Amino acid sequence: MKDSKSPATICVHSGTQPDKDISGVNTPIHTSSAFGYRGAMGNQYPRYFNTPNQKVVVQKLCALEGAEDGLLLSSGMAAITAIIFGLLKQGDHLVLSKEIYGGTYHFITTELPRFGISYTFTDTTAAESFAAAIKENTRMVYLETPSNPLLKLTDIEKVSKLAREKGIISAIDNTFASPINQKPLDFGIDLVMHSGTKYLGGHSDLIFGAVAGSRELVDRIRPHAINMGGNLNAETCALIERSMKTLSLRVERQTQNAQKIAEYLEKAPGIGKVYYPGLKSHPQHELAQKQMLGFGAMLSFELEGDADTTERFLDRLRLIFPALSLGGVETLISASAKTSHVKMSAEERAAAGISDTLLRLSVGIEEADDIIADIRQAMELK
Ligand SMILES: Cc1ncc(COP(=O)(O)O)c(C=O)c1O
Repeated sequence: MKDSKSPATICVHSGTQPDKDISGVNTPIHTSSAFGYRGAMGNQYPRYFNTPNQKVVVQKLCALEGAEDGLLLSSGMAAITAIIFGLLKQGDHLVLSKEIYGGTYHFITTELPRFGISYTFTDTTAAESFAAAIKENTRMVYLETPSNPLLKLTDIEKVSKLAREKGIISAIDNTFASPINQKPLDFGIDLVMHSGTKYLGGHSDLIFGAVAGSRELVDRIRPHAINMGGNLNAETCALIERSMKTLSLRVERQTQNAQKIAEYLEKAPGIGKVYYPGLKSHPQHELAQKQMLGFGAMLSFELEGDADTTERFLDRLRLIFPALSLGGVETLISASAKTSHVKMSAEERAAAGISDTLLRLSVGIEEADDIIADIRQAMELK
């Protein structure tokens, strides 16, 4: 059943089970890994994804995504592999966006051939190219929008409609937008996954993943996930629950900051292209307005110069932290050529539009002007 409360209220209240025994406002942490099998509860076990603290987080996420059911897993990759191995079998074919997270790309290209599952990567920005890639044995389309690091968008509604017409499952990595800024199930997508490590956790101190969608699909994934064993313990679930209570507050602030910083960068001297769906100059700004509730807190920009300019700029930053990962309360920066795309050759990177001066910013909740001041001082010292 759809939760009609607003996202901010869902974050605080949905799923949470105040401690009735002591009249406490928070869900108690149930540490048991052994449960009686003769009572009404029956069959509870952490690896079965059915213990109280696991269920509380799933309910919160499902309320945010508008999903019937979900699974909480030990990492974003565990969520991706659960979807793909849980729903595909030997002989099946998968269509994916070309611009997907490097770990997903690596998983698809190194593991799927061993299991006889074929795949086609297709143009992220053109829904027609998804249509062209579908074969008789295609069983799933998998997209990631906005993409990393160039913030390209896929038309969620068009691709999910196409999949539905062909009787194919559609799945999306919603990590970059978070459920506060994008609700793919509203556009007909069957399954959403998250690297919860990013916005859902939000403090750069947890690793987990999640899947949410129809009960029917989650019921099909669960037996595989139980076999693989990627569950979380109660203490981690309690930390996730606490983090998610501030999800909407954090993401709204991060999104406002990102818009302000992107607008600053677009006019700043020494800066080349700026990639952010909230800018009118973004080639798919109209699509962003249609399918995103907010434009997100991830943006990328190019410095004018070369690889040395990038290194000098990073050395001079005082507040913004050069680090992998994203979605936390602190602003992080990374040079894509040295991080997510380091395994590509220089030619492959050039073809993908990843220059040596491209920097990806994961905007935090600090004061936007302080982040801008840090960029300014790092530039002025050039
Ligand atoms: C968009 C996206 N999807 C999935 C993942 C994988 O998540 P995890 O590192 O939690 O396994 C990441 C990690 O960076 C990511 O950025």
